[in-house]
Amino acid sequence: MEMGYEKKDFGENFVWGTSTSAYQIEGAHNIDGRGPSVWDHFSHQKGKIKNNENGDKACDFYHRYESDISLMASLNVDAFRFSLSWSRIFPEGIGKPNQKGIDFYHQVIDTCLASGIQPWITLYHWDLPLALEERGGWINRDIIYWFSEYVNFCTKTYGDKVKHWMVLNEPLAFTGMGYLRGLHAPGKKGIRQGLSTIHHAVLCQAEGGRIVRRNVPDAQIGTTFSCSYVEPYTRYPRDEQAAQKLDALYNRLFLEPALGQGYPLEDLSFLQKIENYFHPEDEKNMVFDFDFIGLQNYTREIASHSWLAPPLWAKAVPAEKRKVPITTMKWEVYPPGIYHLLKKFSAYDKVKKIYITENGASFEDKVEGEEVLDERRVKFLQSYIGQVLRAKKEGVKVEGYFAWSLLDNFEWENGYRPRFGLIHVDFTTQKRIIKNSGLWYQNFLGQSV
Ligand code: GAL
Repeated sequence: MEMGYEKKDFGENFVWGTSTSAYQIEGAHNIDGRGPSVWDHFSHQKGKIKNNENGDKACDFYHRYESDISLMASLNVDAFRFSLSWSRIFPEGIGKPNQKGIDFYHQVIDTCLASGIQPWITLYHWDLPLALEERGGWINRDIIYWFSEYVNFCTKTYGDKVKHWMVLNEPLAFTGMGYLRGLHAPGKKGIRQGLSTIHHAVLCQAEGGRIVRRNVPDAQIGTTFSCSYVEPYTRYPRDEQAAQKLDALYNRLFLEPALGQGYPLEDLSFLQKIENYFHPEDEKNMVFDFDFIGLQNYTREIASHSWLAPPLWAKAVPAEKRKVPITTMKWEVYPPGIYHLLKKFSAYDKVKKIYITENGASFEDKVEGEEVLDERRVKFLQSYIGQVLRAKKEGVKVEGYFAWSLLDNFEWENGYRPRFGLIHVDFTTQKRIIKNSGLWYQNFLGQSV
């Protein structure tokens, strides 16, 4: 085979899948008792999302899950990673659950199982119930109680059928983009509140893990992180230091507290004040022994010192300026980055197992009749997967790969323009076409092991 490896090189137990999240695909935002989430509220405000788009309909997965799961099964995947919409299950965030919402996920899970696909559930992929945001959301320490109730309910409800659980999706993204920079829902800005959301997310991450363990003792429990391999722009000490800071921010901030190492304060001095939010037992409660961690990787970052970028005094040099290959998100295509990240994360003794829970790219795909030409994505997948194998061969315990994403979907503040799917979606007609990248994945995963 031209790319130099075969499926069997990854071993029999390697898990191959695709990833999605509730708000990005489900639509049906006000159907069957679903309550609003921060993303409904945010996306309905003018000027927040490109072209003022929103996830009201998205891929209409809520009504099309059966045919979408059968399309997914045709790709020969082992597993489907999706998230639960908290406000579909608890319209008010807490209190009375919504039976129709509960039933929906039973159906999704059952359809997966009947199609030979393992359901992997992310408990929180950013769509906080609006009612909870109105009480302060992630800034309010009560989030630990609200989240615990929600996790307790979901794991008791689905735990007999679902054995793979991920507590949070990319906490840096929903705290940083949502509460520090204001680019994501709920659109708040400010360092003080940002710090409290980081601390509460770290506590929920571990507490969520403990609840899954208690309710589903035979579960594999993980949580996911957005990670980028960081290198300095030059070898000058100031840039080296900048790289160290960005690395701490992107790759260590949420992992190390879970491992019992605390926050990386020596590299992130702006975090010092996070201690104001500590309660007596927090140090201990931040720790949880995850069975696996999920790495999600999209780009590499090149760091340089900057007097204009407080409080880190470090910035990422845009890929566009560096004249490297980029996606339509302007993210660098740099396959060895995923290899370096795998090596880096596996160097922690306490990281037992790693899954790539997201990796993918948005490109300008060309639709020609019934064919979607996306050769750059084919190449992207082939090279990134090749780098995963390289790490695995060197002893990294990486046991699975999930492509982002099954379908083109609602890409947060960027709306529907960036297309990450293995399957093309026409958002006017909801017609699906498997892209050439999906066909490549199907063919690759169809190989016998
Ligand atoms: C991740 C996120 C996904 C998806 C992807 C592509 O950060 O978990 O929801 O949007 O990025 O941007």
